Amino acid sequence: MKVLVTDPIADAGLDRLREAGHEVETGYELEGDALHEAVADAHALVVRSGTEVTRELLESAPDLRIVGRAGIGVDNIDIDAATDHGVIVANAPEGNVRAAAEHTVAMAFASARSIPQAHSRLNNGEWAKSEYLGTEVNAKTLGVVGLGRVGQEVAKRLAALGMDLVAYDPYISEERADQLGAELAELDSVLDRADFLTIHTPLTPETENLIGEEELAKLEGGYVVNCARGGIIDEPALAAAVEDGTLAGAALDVFGEEPLPDDSPLLDVDDIIVTPHLGASTSAAQEHVATSIADQVLAAFADEPVVNA
Ligand code: NAD
Ligand code: MLT
Repeated sequence: MKVLVTDPIADAGLDRLREAGHEVETGYELEGDALHEAVADAHALVVRSGTEVTRELLESAPDLRIVGRAGIGVDNIDIDAATDHGVIVANAPEGNVRAAAEHTVAMAFASARSIPQAHSRLNNGEWAKSEYLGTEVNAKTLGVVGLGRVGQEVAKRLAALGMDLVAYDPYISEERADQLGAELAELDSVLDRADFLTIHTPLTPETENLIGEEELAKLEGGYVVNCARGGIIDEPALAAAVEDGTLAGAALDVFGEEPLPDDSPLLDVDDIIVTPHLGASTSAAQEHVATSIADQVLAAFADEPVVNA
């Protein structure tokens, strides 16, 4: 069988597929016609967030049995089109949860203590000690939007650092929230009360632009962290809210358009810090998701049940 891998995954996953006797072709730069040609005789396609798996791409792949997402979010895959073509879509929902949670905590601290800004000033020879007065997370309120796997891990870590928890997630039980020490509330109430707001929902029609100008105004004086998906926060509204001082700062790992365009308004604002979708980028997480997705491809090839499909 041919497995086409179009976004970089750890060698452990590629080795597992090769050791099982399959042909593995990597094409991390493939686009347009070249991508359509490469997928034409593939039996499996493995991606991360870089490849848009569109209806047209699926139509170019008559032998395809499975699309494997080496990670969590499947918003870059046209699930309806895959279903129409009888193609399984599977993800790896566990392997990068802790990596994403740790990155979120790191981004909250980096923002609250202006670490990237101060580092850059010092690299330029400026000892700007008097210009940075940070914010402690201790005794502050963390607002979590989306209290799923990553949201819960972030909540546990920041609660251990002294934060009170309030969460908006219409799909989780009061009981689960209670176990975490989090109070469930409506979004407006979370925004009113939070000092730090952290986003952990998938990107869906319901969450697209969930946090816009009005919502950011309710968070007055707070910080926003988004290590979930671009498109959930209105980027121009966020840039304006940090620029005009409505918000103290923001830290973003994900963007509506990736790679982030050079002319993004987010790049012009000193109190907005950005990383290039690094939430899952630890060696442990990458090894875990790559081997997990390889196992699912092997299961599909063997006509065995595919977990997380
Ligand atoms: P999950 O499915 O376990 O949790 C998502 C939570 O969001 C669920 O509890 C769900 O009930 C809630 N939710 C859904 N719609 C909602 C809405 N309209 N309002 C409020 N809550 C809503 O997912 P997860 O594994 O925790 O992942 C969360 C997000 O993080 C996903 O978007 C995923 O793609 C992203 N992620 C990013 C990185 C990265 O590299 N930056 C790494 C891992 C995960
Ligand atoms: C995910 O949803 O798992 C993330 O986008 C991580 C990634 O693959 O970079």
